[in-house]
Amino acid sequence: MNFYSEYFMPSNGMQCKNIVSPSILSADFANLQSEIQKTENFGAAWCHIDVMDGHFVPNITIGAPVVKSLKNKVKSKLDVHLMIENPDRYICDFIDAGADIITFHIEATSDKTKKCIEMIKQANGLAGIAIKPKTPVSAMEEFISLVDMVLVMTVEPGFSGQKFMPDAAEKIKEVCAIAPNGLIIQVDGGINAETAEICTRYGANCFVAGNFVYKNSDMKSAIESLLCV
Ligand code: DX5
Ligand code: ZN
Repeated sequence: MNFYSEYFMPSNGMQCKNIVSPSILSADFANLQSEIQKTENFGAAWCHIDVMDGHFVPNITIGAPVVKSLKNKVKSKLDVHLMIENPDRYICDFIDAGADIITFHIEATSDKTKKCIEMIKQANGLAGIAIKPKTPVSAMEEFISLVDMVLVMTVEPGFSGQKFMPDAAEKIKEVCAIAPNGLIIQVDGGINAETAEICTRYGANCFVAGNFVYKNSDMKSAIESLLCV
């Protein structure tokens, strides 16, 4: 895991088992910088940025300018989750904006999957492939040795605050069975202390959480429960 240690280490120096990536979709957008800094103080090493285009998913959120304005204003690694069609057309914008980790959906790339991975790797970013709840692991299997991370979605992408889908989480076990050493296995959707516990048993080591972190009256305990689960 040495290669990733810079990526794993929270800026508060805390030792932990997992990466926590709070999703800013549930944060107060009027105070984004301070919202993210709060999560850093409690041990979150990443900041999850959900990019939606209104086509791949039925919602529109944020784009590269927001990533650019956060770069160097927060310590967190910028973990960009592209829920967009034709990700190959936009990856460069997010790299230029300062994204550290870029994940795109296998359902959106058709024959351009390898190209997307190469674009991210050439810029020294970490590359991730995401699968929606109904997409089998076999759909991304041939690319698993080329990426740094696999994102298993445990809700239909598009909105925060949805209910965790246990059947989708089961796929984490399949990813683990074929994962090269050091692969980051991220899970996203309906994550809280209980659902993270299930996912960690299956082999996940990176937790995205929107409502559980940002809408929690005890953000510190929420983040700590995910770091150490
Ligand atoms: C859903 C997004 C998630 C979402 C998670 O499409 O990819 O990152 O913000 O929110 P919660 O943790 O509230 O389900
Ligand atoms: Zn996400």
